[in-house]
Amino acid sequence: MQVLVTGGAGYIGSHTVVELLAAGHRVVVIDNLCNGSPEVLNRIHAITGQQPVFIEGDIRDRVLLDRLFAEHGIDAVIHFAGLKAVGESVACPLTYYENNLYGSMVLCRAMAAAGVRRLVFSSSATVYGEEAAVPYVESMPRGMTSSPYGTSKAMVEKVLEDLCAADQRWSVALMRYFNPIGAHPSGLIGEDPRGIPNNLMPYISQVAVGRLPELSIYGNDYPTADGTCERDYLHVVDLAVGHLKALQILDAPGVKTYNLGMGQSVSVLALVNAFIQVTGVEIPYRFVSRRNGDLAAFWADAGKAHQELGWRAERGLEAMMADTWRWQSKNPGGYR
Ligand code: NAD
Ligand code: WQD
Repeated sequence: MQVLVTGGAGYIGSHTVVELLAAGHRVVVIDNLCNGSPEVLNRIHAITGQQPVFIEGDIRDRVLLDRLFAEHGIDAVIHFAGLKAVGESVACPLTYYENNLYGSMVLCRAMAAAGVRRLVFSSSATVYGEEAAVPYVESMPRGMTSSPYGTSKAMVEKVLEDLCAADQRWSVALMRYFNPIGAHPSGLIGEDPRGIPNNLMPYISQVAVGRLPELSIYGNDYPTADGTCERDYLHVVDLAVGHLKALQILDAPGVKTYNLGMGQSVSVLALVNAFIQVTGVEIPYRFVSRRNGDLAAFWADAGKAHQELGWRAERGLEAMMADTWRWQSKNPGGYR
């Protein structure tokens, strides 16, 4: 297949491009580089021996998209492009709705005009909202999201459902990610957040490499076994493979929704200890007060992806820690 990957210079997108090329697909990447790096393309080449077509541009640029679809015979789109910082979305909601919601709508318009109606969309476990019972199952309704970021994902899901209901030619997979971490085992691509990381894993690895002095653990008084929050962490390469599996079911019309997670939760403390144990690098940490909006514990029921896509997260915590550290220690400043 010829696959258009939006946001392919970012964290999850770059790992998916590697898996697509390795599986024999041809790839066109569009990315405006607002949170991605052009160096990613060289690294993808170093891993796969192949270079995807790269178009630096914005998914909200309809003229550019029309040209892209006219010039490249695209069979399907995997749509990662978007903004993802939860706190920033609270401060700048319009920026998030413009990028994530409006951007997705422009993309769908351009796809329809070009006769391309197969789409895999990056959604998030955050669409289950604050009140959902664990583990999260796809049959649960979307809940009350706690940030414009989460709401933008829930809104795009609804737009895509309505689109499929209105036009039977569309085929869409909504992929709800839990907490992707890790890096490609080559150590050549990985997560490279700009500024101080918001998320736990890059924070830990930047403490390990000496870029940050210590980790603050947000809360140790949650109703969990050790008092710290629990999340369902999965390896980014497993997540990438999930997208290839989703491409295979896009012959059938309609919307399909899949959780992509390990199906088990790990506490913040357990993750920190796993990192120390696997890498031998100490992580100084201290407990601070809870972070606003954090839920105590959630994890996926990942059974549907296994049954319908034949997908399962296979790489365990040890690989997640070792691969994160290989990436971070080989690239202490990220791609820069
Ligand atoms: P990322 O920021 O590393 O990658 C996103 C890429 O999209 C970046 O390279 C950025 O430059 C590009 N981009 C952003 N807006 C764009 C636009 N308007 N036009 C063109 N390119 C644009 O993020 P990621 O972690 O790889 O996440 C990919 C997708 O998965 C996002 O949609 C995100 O919301 C979703 N997601 C991520 C997580 C996570 O924990 N990382 C969890 C659930 C869902
Ligand atoms: C994990 C745990 C923190 C940083 C976010 C988004 C979610 C999804 C994935 C996109 C929590 C704790 C963190 C730190 C800490 N993204 N923590 N110290 O919040 O589960 O999910 O990323 O869709 O929508 O909300 O991930 O990595 O930020 O936090 O103690 O410096 O680590 O409190 O319990 P989260 P995270």
